[in-house]
Amino acid sequence: SKDWNGIDQIVLRNPQGASARVSLHGGQVTSWRNDRGEELLFTSSKAIFKPPKSMRGGIPICFPQFGNCGSLEQHGFARSKIWTIDDNPPPLHLNESTGKSFIDLLLKPSEEDLKCWPHSFEFRLRVSLASDGNLALISRIRNINGKPFSFSFAYHTYLSVSDISEVRIEGLETLDYLDNLCQRNRFTEQGDAITFESEVDRVYLSSQNCIAVLDHERKRTYVLRKEGLPDVVVWNPWDKKSKSMADFGDEEYKQMLCVDGAAIEKPITLKPGEEWTGRLELAVVSSSFCSEN
Ligand code: BG6
Repeated sequence: SKDWNGIDQIVLRNPQGASARVSLHGGQVTSWRNDRGEELLFTSSKAIFKPPKSMRGGIPICFPQFGNCGSLEQHGFARSKIWTIDDNPPPLHLNESTGKSFIDLLLKPSEEDLKCWPHSFEFRLRVSLASDGNLALISRIRNINGKPFSFSFAYHTYLSVSDISEVRIEGLETLDYLDNLCQRNRFTEQGDAITFESEVDRVYLSSQNCIAVLDHERKRTYVLRKEGLPDVVVWNPWDKKSKSMADFGDEEYKQMLCVDGAAIEKPITLKPGEEWTGRLELAVVSSSFCSEN
């Protein structure tokens, strides 16, 4: 189907009725629903669906730069480009079970992109919806350049929550983090699960591969499993910053929380011909667990 700008979007469905929608604009997942039709990702009511601006919500991809520490636009250019459908992707060597509905997308740099970031790459993204409703994003980035290059990366995942003050994150306790609100200084998280009572903009470093976001009021827990993505961004703009964002409602910070699987502190370096894989799987369960940890 097409969105308002005539840009293709793909809807994945499973037999139980869960669905996910992926736009060629940014390769962005813009919706993920469970089998009861409940939306699990946040999208702002003020979101602007117009390229090149990235839409406020869903899962924009930050590549090849996270944030504004670098020469590129904030969070890099991948989220503002029009991707293509990859009809003939090379096989994935991950343990991908069958019975999934998926789509493969491809991004290659344009002449313009090469002017600001002179590194040739192929970025393949698979988005898949499993029979249990789990959503997986698998990014494969290959250096097709004669020289090595480095990048940072994040799946900027806007989770929909009932009330931010009732939410907590488990799996980041005792980790070091960089605080974007404080000149990227390094701090150490104290022992407890993370809760929210003011603006948070942090990069937690080298976390375990399973993180749980507990929405107490909805009795819903998001379980994020990641591979190749050591860091976790946690972002909520709270009231003041919300008011400064044109494409975000003043009160919407209460209904969202960004928790990103990311590779930021130590950029990924690829030699010519090398490929990197970063995988994020999202599940929703009715209680808290990251049992394998
Ligand atoms: C977060 C950053 O991940 O993304 C924040 O850490 C930033 O600093 C936020 O404000 C949103 O970024 P943008 O470019 O989508 O408005």
